[in-house]
Amino acid sequence: MQKIAVIAGDGIGQEVMPEGLRVLRAVADRFGLPLHFDEFHFADCRYYEQHGDMLPPDWKEQIGGHDAIFFGAVGWPAIVPDHVSLWGSLLKFRREFDQYVNLRPARLLPGVRSPLVDRQGRPLVPGDIDMWIVRENTEGEYSSVGGRMYAGTEREIVLQETVMSRVGVDRVLRFAFELAARRPRARLTSATKSNGIAITMPYWDERVEAMAREFPGVAVDKFHIDILCAHFVQRPQAFDVVVASNLFGDILSDLGPACTGTIAVAPSANLNPTRQWPSLFEPVHGSAPDIAGRGIANPIGQIWAGAMMLDFLGHRAAHDAVMAAIEAVLGDPRAPRTPDLGGQASCAQLGQAIAEAAKIAA
Ligand code: NAD
Ligand code: IPM
Ligand code: MN
Repeated sequence: MQKIAVIAGDGIGQEVMPEGLRVLRAVADRFGLPLHFDEFHFADCRYYEQHGDMLPPDWKEQIGGHDAIFFGAVGWPAIVPDHVSLWGSLLKFRREFDQYVNLRPARLLPGVRSPLVDRQGRPLVPGDIDMWIVRENTEGEYSSVGGRMYAGTEREIVLQETVMSRVGVDRVLRFAFELAARRPRARLTSATKSNGIAITMPYWDERVEAMAREFPGVAVDKFHIDILCAHFVQRPQAFDVVVASNLFGDILSDLGPACTGTIAVAPSANLNPTRQWPSLFEPVHGSAPDIAGRGIANPIGQIWAGAMMLDFLGHRAAHDAVMAAIEAVLGDPRAPRTPDLGGQASCAQLGQAIAEAAKIAA
């Protein structure tokens, strides 16, 4: 039996999670997978309102023994400041469960229109954008080292240090190099900013160069984050595996999926590759308070995250069936589409169509 902790969270997390589960249950039935889902009702802002904290004191005992965590989205800034809700839940999971790799594909899917065109003005086609963003997920710019001094006075100072450890940098780089080495193009791009951030970023570059010597078959390049963002828009075809620090990876993993037409389809795997702790699978997007409660969220990011979780748990055929189902439904002009995809269907209609397709897709 594989135990999965389910945490839907806030806003559209509550709407896309049932669709993610619907698809997982469909393929679990079809392939006879030994999956057991345990739903937890914490790590959301309603829980905070009631308890003054995002998590119960024994949260680690409650979910730390599960094989994986299937997560929706957290954040409801009208009730709880974002840094309180996120540092009290998702960012805590990433650190305490040592999920040091955040793996995020950006892939142009059939039937979805990219906002980009090529140099001849032609729309991009599937295959033009097909990259994996490997984001460092436990240190870097997301550090708790810092503070506020002279609060409320003219001399007020705030300070937050970027932390890069050799172990922390090397382990995420190794994951990215190994991934690149398995890909046909075997190309790795590193995001840097060593011209301006003159201590941590030259260190990052130095570790990339050192690791590149161990992977002579991988073609390595690096770009400063500013021009890298421009290249994502002007020639996304050039990228295969992109490795980045925590903040740069955060930004690139919204930009990449936006180039594929909608951020709503993008998944995210927060991996503890040692498997000492559970890994966490979630969409890239947030709780979307602007559309929450209307039943129009696109559930594909959640469903694709479920597919990544299946793969991680060793169920490759079920993963492939879910991906084939997503592609079949998106590629079918008569199938339901949510408003972000130019249609009028509901979250549940799109989720149902993918679940039905996943029962038969090869
Ligand atoms: P967001 O991703 O929630 O929304 C950005 C925009 O994309 C909105 O216009 C939203 O309507 C749209 N969108 C997002 N997901 C969609 C979907 N599935 N279908 C259709 N449209 C979708 O980002 P935000 O507005 O910056 O953040 C809102 C809240 O979510 C904040 O509290 C933020 O901190 C939190 N957040 C949480 C996570 C997470 O839990 N992993 C990620 C990002 C943001
Ligand atoms: C993400 C989100 C989070 C992050 C926020 C909500 C803290 O944007 O998962 O990409 O910055 O990592
Ligand atoms: Mn983000």
